[in-house]
Amino acid sequence: MKIFSGSSSKELARKIAGHLKLELSPVEIFVFPDGEKRIRIKDKVLGESCVIVQSAGIPTDENYMELFIMIDALKRSGAKSVKTVIPYLGYQRQDHIFRSGEAVSLEVIAKILTSVGMTELFSFDLHSPKIPEIFKVPVHHLSALPLFAERIKKLGENIVLVSPDMGGIRRIKQVSEMLGNISFATIEKNRDLSSGEISNSGLNGDVRGKTAVIVDDMISTAVTTVDATNLLIEKGAKRVFAFATHGVFAKYAGKILQKSKIEKVVVSDTIEIPPYKTFPKLELISIAETAAKAILK
Ligand code: R5P
Repeated sequence: MKIFSGSSSKELARKIAGHLKLELSPVEIFVFPDGEKRIRIKDKVLGESCVIVQSAGIPTDENYMELFIMIDALKRSGAKSVKTVIPYLGYQRQDHIFRSGEAVSLEVIAKILTSVGMTELFSFDLHSPKIPEIFKVPVHHLSALPLFAERIKKLGENIVLVSPDMGGIRRIKQVSEMLGNISFATIEKNRDLSSGEISNSGLNGDVRGKTAVIVDDMISTAVTTVDATNLLIEKGAKRVFAFATHGVFAKYAGKILQKSKIEKVVVSDTIEIPPYKTFPKLELISIAETAAKAILK
């Protein structure tokens, strides 16, 4: 087996390779002055099973384009199979039509990935459990939630889990079960589909005097997390922590989270956080071993 890294996930790819007892195979990524990339696989891959690790966080389109070309380069060089680890599957929130006239963007991504030669996909905490159905190749839907459950155990007693929206109920129930069916609460979040603006209309559950632990699939602008935190504090929560698999961190998310009343923000390393986006309240948990074990199965 040979393992390759795209530009977006070098550190994670190195860790996954380490768990697989492999070195990353060399790949040349040359960027032309106009931004186009020329990609060359430098190893012999004829008849080999190959793995590419490339997350699709910001800049999403660029990361995907690089991945498409890497898969093509491997196939043209004779690779037997190309398993791709896309720990954060960009465009996953556009997995169906919300309003007439829209595209199903994730289906476009799925079609390109399979037509260039992806043979299997490994991804973490997909926004909807139905997403694998969009792909015509096997999808391994992995999760950072068991790692989060272990970390939450260390936060002490009197915990209440919180889903910041009704769409996250399945996720929050899973974490609750992992922690021996501890109590959970849900927030009723509304999103305006044309402006994207969100508002909270209520809290189901009791958080008074408790340590509230928000669990979400991703933090993008951080508006959801910070609005939820404010509501939880207003309803009497003593401390608030936030856990999310994907630290997308768009715009000023890091600064907003740092300034907020949240005590700590825990995300996994499905997306590499560049130094300028990191902030003191941020803690990282690695999904590398989970990914490596799934690849080996
Ligand atoms: C929404 O359905 C997702 O689960 C996240 O809550 C949302 O995408 C987070 O976005 P933001 O951080 O921009 O509020």
